[in-house]
Formats: sequence, structure tokens, C-alpha cells
Amino acid sequence: MTGAGILLDHVTKRYPGQARPAVDGLTMEIPAGKTVMLVGPSGCGKTTTLKMINRLIEPSEGRIVVDGDDVTQMNGDRLRRGIGYVIQAGGLFPHMTVATNIGIVPRMLGWDRDRIAARVDELLELVSLDPEQYRDRFPKELSGGQQQRVGVARALAADPPVLLMDEPFGAVDPITRLRLQDELINIQDELQKTIVCVTHDFDEAVKLGDWIAIFDEGAQLVQYDTPERILGNPANEFVENFIGSGAGLKQLTLTRVGDVGMAEAILARPGEPARDVLARIVAAGHGHAVVVDSRERPIQWLSRRKLDRLQTIGSTPDPGLPVVGSRATLSDALDTMLVSSAGAALVTGRRDVFRGVIDIKTVMDAIGRSQDTAAMDSTDAPVGLNTGIFGAVTTDEVASADTPGPGTGTGDTPAAQ
Ligand SMILES: Nc1ncnc2c1ncn2[C@@H]1O[C@H](COP(=O)(O)OP(=O)(O)O)[C@@H](O)[C@H]1O
Ligand SMILES: [Mg+2]
Repeated sequence: MTGAGILLDHVTKRYPGQARPAVDGLTMEIPAGKTVMLVGPSGCGKTTTLKMINRLIEPSEGRIVVDGDDVTQMNGDRLRRGIGYVIQAGGLFPHMTVATNIGIVPRMLGWDRDRIAARVDELLELVSLDPEQYRDRFPKELSGGQQQRVGVARALAADPPVLLMDEPFGAVDPITRLRLQDELINIQDELQKTIVCVTHDFDEAVKLGDWIAIFDEGAQLVQYDTPERILGNPANEFVENFIGSGAGLKQLTLTRVGDVGMAEAILARPGEPARDVLARIVAAGHGHAVVVDSRERPIQWLSRRKLDRLQTIGSTPDPGLPVVGSRATLSDALDTMLVSSAGAALVTGRRDVFRGVIDIKTVMDAIGRSQDTAAMDSTDAPVGLNTGIFGAVTTDEVASADTPGPGTGTGDTPAAQ
């Protein structure tokens, strides 16, 4: 684990000329190596909370502790070099190439050129962009999703223990968003950073979060718990409304594609004679073959009928390929299957490598089998409470109390040190 724990300790932000604080006495523990999602209505103080962690916004009151150090008085520039920050559309500098954008922090840290170049390529691989093809491009020569990937690569450049993300996938189309979410999950599996991510999309919070903090106005923490427990046991009507109608299909959002059975597929490579591939799928009793490139990424999905009309297998990727990451939710998988009309989707793992095929029947069976395990889950929730609006509870009281404070989940609450 490479992340660092964060504690917001009675943090308040008052903007000049505003009647009420944007963040009002927020105390919140963000466990090391976990992904914590901040969700809530527009204007409730999510961005303000996030930007106080790297002091792009200075708190009016309270303390922020990162990895045991009070960073409230620390030099802001130095602090920010140790905290990755990702915003909508990547926030890339338009006049700099991809490589220069990614190398900004390493350059400030005085790394030599070779080390930076090697790191840039490594990070491009990590975010599934071919370094050869992309390192010298300018941001305007990239799609929205690619810009966002470069933004993530840049934030990770100097291997910071903490990554802050503010609606990172808000500016891309829904299908790209799902893929970027899958990739972030894969990256996090590998790196185990402490990620604090703002979103207004509850499904995204459920998908990405180890913990979800639901805020009301003034960054008032209404519930802070696991996705399972929030869905299974919403704290009040505000949370219920926020979860919305999707809650009825919660198994779909709580189960990952990789957790249900996948079917194997017959693979084909560009350049192969189509009749050889056809012979293989007929022998296996399959209807389709999956064409993978030299890095085992799916590029085409060919039916018997298509193979019949082909001489050789081509190498051009099919942009409409129904692909879903193994860490995607069944809900994402269903969306992908439905728009593809294939009734099935191709599943990929790390670096988009092909893993197998998932079909609608598998998803339906999984829903039928799934049981609500949330009630049996006794993981301790992190500390989270407000003292501003309620003014009643302190962290000391919570640390010694048997019952959790407002906004925490069920189960014993760990102390905030
Ligand atoms: N620079 C600022 N000056 C004054 N008020 C601000 C400023 N930034 C944000 N606010 C106000 O603070 C509140 C919280 O804003 P913000 O943290 O951006 O919310 P969110 O990210 O949840 O939409 C809002 O009422 C917003 O209008
Ligand atoms: Mg915001």
C-alpha cells in the first residue's frame, strides 16, 4: 500500500461575503490506500472540501493532517507536489505536448531527462495509451477520454500517496466514462493510492468508492459508509432521494463483471486466413471469434457469417466493439450489451487485455443468486461528523463512545488520531 491517511479535523471554510460557511466544522477520516467518494448536490461544498486538502483553498478553521503531518501550515507548493490533482477534461496545458504535461511535477522535482522520459512512457502505458503514438501529441489532438487519461497520468507522475479528483469523468460521454472508471479501478488495484474523488453521480460513487461520504449543504456529512451499507440502509430520506430509483437494481451496481462467470472465446489474429478461424469456431460450437491485437486487446468480434465473407482477418479496430472492464459493474455490462445488440459483451482486464465474454443470461443468473451481504459486513466505518451545524459532538467523544456519531455507519467506530 502506498497511500497516506488523511484527517480533516473540525475544518471550516467561510468565503468572504457568504452568509453561511461552505464547509462547516467537518471532521472526516480518509483511510490510507482507499478510495473515498464525496457526493452531494451542487454547491454543497465538495470542491471546497477537496481543495482544502491540497490547500488550493485555505481553511478558515481547523486542521488537515496528511500521513500524520499537520499540513495546514506547510508550504502550499511543496504540499501540492506530493498530492496528485485531477480535474474535468484533464486540465492539460494546451501548448504543451502530452509528455511535457505529464513531466511537469518531475521537472519541478529536478529529475533528469532520461528518468522523466522513462516515467512518461510508463505512465502512458498505465493509462492505456501507446507511448509511441501519443507522447508527442498536443491536447487538442486527443479525444476527451484520452485527455482525461493524460490528466490522470500527470497526477500520478511523481508517485504521490494521495490523489484528489474533482468530477474527473464529468466531461466525457457515458460509454467513455464507464471505460475510464474501469481503468481507474485497475490502476487503483495496482497502486493503492489514497483517492478522494468528488462526483455528483451516485452510481459512479458506488462503483469506485470503498467509502462514500454523502454531503448536504455546508458539507454536512449525512452518511459516511460503504456503498453496500448506504444502499442497504440509507440514513434518512435525503440519502434515499440521492440514491434515487436505481436502488431497486442495487445488485447490478454492487456486483462486478469479474465476479460472475465468463465464457471463453475462440481467438483470432490479424493476418490469419478467415477459413481457419471459421473452422475453429465451428469445431468449438461457437458463433463468434474475438480478434485480438499483439497486446491481446480485442479489436473485432466476428460472426460466422462475417468470417464466411472474409479472406484474411483484418487489423482495424472496430470502434463499436461492446467492451467492458472486468471491474465494471453488472449495470455497466448490461448497458454495453444493450447498445451493442449483441446480447453479450467482451470483458477486458488490466491494460485492456481480453478476458472472456459475458452475456445477459449470466447477468440475470447472478442477480438471481446474489444475496444482500451488507448486513453481515462488520467493517468499521471511518470517523465522519460535523460540529458546525450540530455543534454537539467532538472527535474525542466519538473515540470513546460505543455508538457512532452522526454520519457514521453501523459498527464500532475507530478513533481519529
Ligand atoms: N471563491 C468563492 N467565493 C465565494 N463563494 C464560493 C466560492 N467558491 C465556492 N463558493 C460557494 O461555496 C459553496 C460550495 O461550493 P463548492 O465547494 O464549489 O460546491 P460543490 O463542489 O459541492 O458544487 C457554494 O455555495 C458556492 O457558491
Ligand atoms: Mg464542485
